[in-house]
Amino acid sequence: MEALKTPPLTQFESGVAAPRYIPALPSLDLGMLMPPRRASLPFPFNAPGVSYGYFARNAVWTLARVFELFRGEVLVPAYHHGVEVEALIDAGVTPRFYPVGPRMEVDPADVARRIQPKKTRALYLIHFLGFPGPVEAFQKLAEEHGLVLIEDCALALFSRRESQPLGSFGDASVFSLYKTLPLPNGGALVLNEGRPRGLPRLPEPPRLSMLSHLAASYLQGLEFRRGALGRTLRKMARGLSRRAVASTGIERVATGTQHFAREHARLGMSAISRRILAAQDVAGIVERRRRNFFFLQSRLRDLGPSLIPELPAGVCPLFFPLRVEDKTRIQRLLGLRGIETVDFWRYGHPACLPGEFPDVEKLRQSVLEIPIHQDLSPAQMSFVARAIHEVLPR
Ligand SMILES: Cc1ncc(COP(=O)(O)O)c(C=O)c1O
Repeated sequence: MEALKTPPLTQFESGVAAPRYIPALPSLDLGMLMPPRRASLPFPFNAPGVSYGYFARNAVWTLARVFELFRGEVLVPAYHHGVEVEALIDAGVTPRFYPVGPRMEVDPADVARRIQPKKTRALYLIHFLGFPGPVEAFQKLAEEHGLVLIEDCALALFSRRESQPLGSFGDASVFSLYKTLPLPNGGALVLNEGRPRGLPRLPEPPRLSMLSHLAASYLQGLEFRRGALGRTLRKMARGLSRRAVASTGIERVATGTQHFAREHARLGMSAISRRILAAQDVAGIVERRRRNFFFLQSRLRDLGPSLIPELPAGVCPLFFPLRVEDKTRIQRLLGLRGIETVDFWRYGHPACLPGEFPDVEKLRQSVLEIPIHQDLSPAQMSFVARAIHEVLPR
């Protein structure tokens, strides 16, 4: 295994560039643009009722219309990203929030008490970070009360509950493809059993915007894979692209934002995303993500109990959730070491009042997402673990 030394903190804080770059998300490799023949992709890609769009938020908006949820209320977890709630509200839905516990757990009995006859139309379940929520209990509730069950798998692509894929339990499910895979854009909507099929294929997104996302992912990969040389090339290319964007006035359809925009609701997934998808080794991705999660979990055991203590069989984790006291500081210190992290869901949708859900508020204040994606080797994970030990107060 490659030995990676972590220089002491003072060296990073004195402005010396970090020796490594560990991006939060996987990056594009040019080989993915010329995909080899692979076995067909698993769920949700092989589902008869799958359709694709630019992002998952569009799928949330579309399904609210397909199921006519604008006539009522939807029970949504108080711990959420915010954009899925915005898409529901834009589609005319009234969200009602249910609690999420300190370990991201959901109590179906509590959710059951919030169901209001004639008002509640649907249950919205988010599989946090790829870990299955209580989907069977929700299925039962939905059946008993005649509700639509929506599974939000934006963070749960390729995850299973035992042998059954997440997203195949409910009436409908949504996936954000570009979070797990290095695609410039892509979301999926699955309408399960007996639901309307054949949603229209949506138009290609603006080409220049798509190319700019593609180039950004490739340059990120260059810095990740080629070290100092890659960093220099990326810096130069960024300067050039900034000037090109300013002079041509490219309208970049940003991914990863917290807002739903109706003018982007009918944008499709690009043909390039489909091509990159076809190049993915799904079994390898799941295996590497699980390996990296396990590795970090065992290396960080001495720091106290993990937020999520187990990695059940079948789960494809998106990130490792690290609980910290001072998120901003820890994120900055890891950043100085070249490690990109994600400040997970610090703010929810304003319709959900923070004072009502203190456990959720605590999660929002304390969870930092550490990368464990498929591009990262055991040596790189070891570097990440050492850096965490250095920056966390004992
Ligand atoms: C739970 C959840 N649902 C939906 C979305 C929307 O995903 P997208 O960015 O693909 O629209 C997100 C985005 O982070 C999310 O976290």
